[in-house]
Amino acid sequence: MRRLFPVTDQTPPAVTGQAQPAVTGQAPPSAPGRTLSGEDREWSLDELAEAYAYPELAADGHWLRGNMVSTLDGAAQHDGRSQPISSDTDMRVFGTLRGLADVVVVGAETVRQEGYRPARAREAFAARRRAAGQGPAPAIAVVTASMDLDFSLPLFTAPLVPTLVLTGSAAPPERLAAAAAAGVEVVTAGEGAAVDAARAVRELADRGLRRQLTEGGPRLLGQFVAAGVLDELCLTVSPMLTAGDAQRIAGGGRLEVPTRLRLVSVLEEAGFLFTRYRRS
Ligand SMILES: NC(=O)c1ccc[n+]([C@@H]2O[C@H](COP(=O)([O-])OP(=O)(O)OC[C@H]3O[C@@H](n4cnc5c(N)ncnc54)[C@H](OP(=O)(O)O)[C@@H]3O)[C@@H](O)[C@H]2O)c1
Repeated sequence: MRRLFPVTDQTPPAVTGQAQPAVTGQAPPSAPGRTLSGEDREWSLDELAEAYAYPELAADGHWLRGNMVSTLDGAAQHDGRSQPISSDTDMRVFGTLRGLADVVVVGAETVRQEGYRPARAREAFAARRRAAGQGPAPAIAVVTASMDLDFSLPLFTAPLVPTLVLTGSAAPPERLAAAAAAGVEVVTAGEGAAVDAARAVRELADRGLRRQLTEGGPRLLGQFVAAGVLDELCLTVSPMLTAGDAQRIAGGGRLEVPTRLRLVSVLEEAGFLFTRYRRS
């Protein structure tokens, strides 16, 4: 993996073992931060975590980051899943973004299609999470109107951090009862059947889940975009073409005025581009 943007240092590294000039305040070439970012090599999870750190948040602040993968022709899935258009490095970035988040917000269809499991506690992020006052793994928060979820799955029965379900006030009573019987916390985040995207963000933040990550799917992401609450998009551009009629990364109603984002960084590995954009 190498950094393409911002271009910070393309100077060849000093030869290892060579005496270094004793310049006060100058870090040795091997020190973190002096590693050549344009150099093509495997990044450690720690480096990835550094590169994708959430911004400092105000006491009452929250940050919603999206993480999606798209082919060159805009497909967000192939045969109903994102795995065929992803890569090992994409999964490392995916894992890193989870490792930094308080909560992963995801649409019920993605949970059903991708067979979501609870987030794992990973040693690579443990110290960082402890220092940030975070639990061992992010909570998963599933957005659903139907509550058509299998509450006997490990996602609900065996998470390290309890999985939340976000739904509307008109959720089916029998499904609410099933969730209650399984000990699943249900958060009302909308009047009627649907969840209000902006309210979902607030409800999670009110529970201390302020570093938020959404993994889509497209129908849910489109609502965060439309509500103007998506702060950042980490988009992996996969060097693949699929044609066909796959969804793109954000669906739903179109915006009257396109939302413009600012490019923060681009990493590259094996033709995959790992882009990061923020609201300007
Ligand atoms: N390329 C990527 O990065 C990426 C990421 C994620 C997923 N995907 C792919 O995208 C596909 C699934 O995405 P999708 O867009 O069809 O579905 P989705 O956004 O994951 O889930 C849609 C479902 O979420 C619930 N939902 C969404 N908005 C809601 C609201 N405002 N209020 C209440 N419930 C709401 C509803 O669940 P109920 O039906 O239970 O009411 C709805 O059917 C899969 O093929 C998956 O592989 C790709």
